[in-house]
Amino acid sequence: MTSHGQTAPADAVPEDARTHLFNDRNLDRYRRAVTEGVERVARRVARADRPFTGVSPARLAERISGIDLDRPLHDPTAALDELDEVYLRDAVYFHHPRYLAHLNCPVVIPALLGEAILSAINSSLDTWDQSAGGTLIERRLIEWAAGRVGLGSDADGVFTSGGTQSNLQALLLAREEACAKAMAGSPSLPRHEILRRLRVIASADGHFSVTKSARLLGLEPGAVILVETDERRRMRPDALARELDRCRRDGLQVMAVVATAGTTDFGAIDPLPEIADLCGHADVWLHVDAAYGCGLLVSKTRRHLLNGIERADSVTIDFHKSFFQPVSSSAVLVRDAATLRHATYHADYLNPAYAAEQRIPNQVDKSLQTTRRFDALKLWLTLRIMGPDAIGELFDRVVDRAAQAWELINADPRFEVLAKSQLSTVVFRYLPPEGPARKLTDDANLHARQALAASGQAMVAGTKVDGRHYLKLTLLNPETSLDDIAHVIGLLAGHAERYVTERSPLHCGTA
Ligand SMILES: Cc1ncc(COP(=O)(O)O)c(C=O)c1O
Repeated sequence: MTSHGQTAPADAVPEDARTHLFNDRNLDRYRRAVTEGVERVARRVARADRPFTGVSPARLAERISGIDLDRPLHDPTAALDELDEVYLRDAVYFHHPRYLAHLNCPVVIPALLGEAILSAINSSLDTWDQSAGGTLIERRLIEWAAGRVGLGSDADGVFTSGGTQSNLQALLLAREEACAKAMAGSPSLPRHEILRRLRVIASADGHFSVTKSARLLGLEPGAVILVETDERRRMRPDALARELDRCRRDGLQVMAVVATAGTTDFGAIDPLPEIADLCGHADVWLHVDAAYGCGLLVSKTRRHLLNGIERADSVTIDFHKSFFQPVSSSAVLVRDAATLRHATYHADYLNPAYAAEQRIPNQVDKSLQTTRRFDALKLWLTLRIMGPDAIGELFDRVVDRAAQAWELINADPRFEVLAKSQLSTVVFRYLPPEGPARKLTDDANLHARQALAASGQAMVAGTKVDGRHYLKLTLLNPETSLDDIAHVIGLLAGHAERYVTERSPLHCGTA
């Protein structure tokens, strides 16, 4: 039966369903389908003169809901034609130089090659017996990344689905280490009482996934203490010291300090050496969320900005942000491999304890996931084809361009620009002329962003700073030129100015 209660027509299955299986008998079909898919993407990308068409959710929903999923087309070409209508035509294209919104990078071709291979072979990285070489490749990459961070010879880690999952896992390990420490000190203390006293300290600009993780980990509401930032939006070590001290005096246990190496809005890198000193002194787990800033690990000119990261107990790195990898590709790294045991659960059918004793490399022992994609292959081929310096060079380009963009906007009297990023964001807003129009500042900026997205000419992000609406450029595309940025800024100013003019008393009076 179809979803509309109709019976599928008898001629709806013209061929043996087994011809669709990926195997040695159907390789021609495989080659044709994948090549046609690649060709469709290439055609769309060739024609994409803007990052977005500006289509509304309602218009697109109409097209998608009109498709009867119980009536297959039985033809890849027809299915791709349809896909073009419902997805490819109106997709948001991150490769476009005027896509300047969120932390989405254009992707490198070696990684796309990896993506095609990994989904066809479909290894699952939970156990050795589902992946073989895939497991060893992932392990080698973790070793490489931990080496770049400088975590030492006992380090380990695992690939994850993204920064959110990496942060969650790091905080899970930190929580368990803190609980073990508390129980060693007071063996009769019940676990729920320990959990009640646990605190996490991050900067006010840390990623929201830290607070979300704390909730998922059963911490008290309000267990995450957000400390002030300095004029460059970096965590203030004196504020951190004060909070560590206050927690100690109040009988609270700080289970982790989360330093951010590249905040989402301001691209600020918290002062890692000072924070590491304070954590060392207080004997507190240091997690560095380098989801965004990790690209500096391969920069020839800016690696020093991450100095101090090597003192972390755990680190989040998102290859799908500043390593130009397709989603998903992230990792959580730990200084002490033994701490990963907090994520271990032995299931008789999958990874029995005796497998660990026999040193069979089952990555599920280290992961929150069970079935897991071989995302590591994308990074592997990227490193084997391009090499790390080339990735670092691409990231350096966007950091340089962001500095130029900051200067450009700072010199433009129509705008106010906030703290200069250490990475590749620019936070700014349009400022209407002094007088009654100033009251329209928030609305004018909100309008400008929406109008720009609706036109599809370019995409920028928005954020709130001290309760006020700001615009944000996130540069991750090395092909974005200063001319692109100047053009986008001009479009934003035009939308905002029109909005203000149309609402000014003079304009209303003459309308
Ligand atoms: C600093 C930081 N940490 C963590 C995350 C979460 O990463 P993901 O979106 O890969 O889960 C982000 C996302 O933007 C981020 O900017």
